[in-house]
Amino acid sequence: MNQPLDDRGKIKSELASGKLHSYIVHNSKDPHPYLATIRASCLEHKWNFMLTTCDQAAFLYSQARILGAKKILELGCFYGHSTLALAAALPADGLLISVEHNPKFAKIATDHLTRAGVMDRIEIIVGEAPRVTQDLARKHEAGSFDLIFVDADKRHSQAYWDTSLALVRVGGLIIFDNVLARGDILNDSQDAANHATAMREFNANVLLDGRVQSFIATIGDGMLVAIKNI
Ligand SMILES: C[S@@+](CC[C@H](N)C(=O)[O-])C[C@H]1O[C@@H](n2cnc3c(N)ncnc32)[C@H](O)[C@@H]1O
Repeated sequence: MNQPLDDRGKIKSELASGKLHSYIVHNSKDPHPYLATIRASCLEHKWNFMLTTCDQAAFLYSQARILGAKKILELGCFYGHSTLALAAALPADGLLISVEHNPKFAKIATDHLTRAGVMDRIEIIVGEAPRVTQDLARKHEAGSFDLIFVDADKRHSQAYWDTSLALVRVGGLIIFDNVLARGDILNDSQDAANHATAMREFNANVLLDGRVQSFIATIGDGMLVAIKNI
């Protein structure tokens, strides 16, 4: 999987065949005109599969927009593709904090988001997401975020879940990317075992968490969407 497709986004998992995936991404409207420029700039990068696809960006935008989000937290910025989709849904006085531990990606994203004209509502924090999110919780930001999008390293998923639940408001959304482990979620082979097992455990824990209503949207590589109830 993850074979190159076109400039609308790479196939993320076995959820959609090449043709079906192509149809989906070509029938998803970019919520901001600069998103295509970000995708084009990442096309030759060896990790281009990490970039969210057109349909994922449109989905994130729609969720933030429906929610009327004014304050968003993102873990994992990369080239700023999902950051721009989410920022496009914010009002002029909104705030999006994006956490990225690779300074090179933070710089690339900052340049893109500046050119896209949305940097006035974005703060990119360069640092390790587990520590930064705990700092945010300590700075009395608990319960103050409308939406949290988690798209950083998967090994910290459970910790990100716990902190996200503390930081998001009641009625707010937590969205996790890649919860189907690139289609390997049901694969018990040795290669798939670690990632797939960790995601299976994570998904099972979320299902049992009485504080949220959740589901897995079959978009990209599976996006877990949870509404905080209490
Ligand atoms: C899948 S990419 C994010 C893609 C991005 N959301 C998009 O829409 O294109 C994951 C990003 O998380 C960053 N990352 C991984 N582990 C991290 C950590 N512990 N703290 C902060 N950033 C991390 C990586 O450097 C990478 O840029």
